[in-house]
Amino acid sequence: MSHAEEPEGTRRDFLYYATASAGAVAAGAAAWPLINQMNPSADVLALSSIRVDISGVEVGTQLTVNFQGKPVFIRRRTQEEIDEARAVKLEDLVDPIDYKWENPNLEEDSPALDENRTMDEKGEWLVMIGVCTHLGCVPLGGRSGDFGGWFCPCHGSHYDTSGRIRKGPAPRNLDIPPARFEGESTIVLG
Ligand code: FES
Repeated sequence: MSHAEEPEGTRRDFLYYATASAGAVAAGAAAWPLINQMNPSADVLALSSIRVDISGVEVGTQLTVNFQGKPVFIRRRTQEEIDEARAVKLEDLVDPIDYKWENPNLEEDSPALDENRTMDEKGEWLVMIGVCTHLGCVPLGGRSGDFGGWFCPCHGSHYDTSGRIRKGPAPRNLDIPPARFEGESTIVLG
């Protein structure tokens, strides 16, 4: 049967259904990535929380891990570092308050006492985001700077052994990530 002999409307109907059908497929294809993007992908989920084995971290050393794209310092402090940090008076601090957004492990905004910044009561474990609060360089550790903690060489910010800003242009103490112990030899970040 030639086109000329087709009953009226048949070809037009076919084109109409074909177009509607292609449209439905296209809409489905477009909707899927949008819906899919609302669910974090497996690699993002994995990064939102990481477990760090700290069994090999010696007293007086620091492990640096990458967490959500930022360096996180996990320092196992010596008694001397702890004593120095705990002897500092609040009135000597540039930034005497740690807000909850700066340290999500706190119940509420709190004085930047070393006791409020460390993982354990004794104060051996200090976990901080290793990003200078001035313009984002990574401070040097290993008891550096005038206060024996961390020193940012970019513009000269000195942090004490609790990671609190003591001298230089940085306005705030080093931030603390969400962290908790899982057993004795694992710290969970996130
Ligand atoms: S970025 Fe650290 S002092 Fe400027």
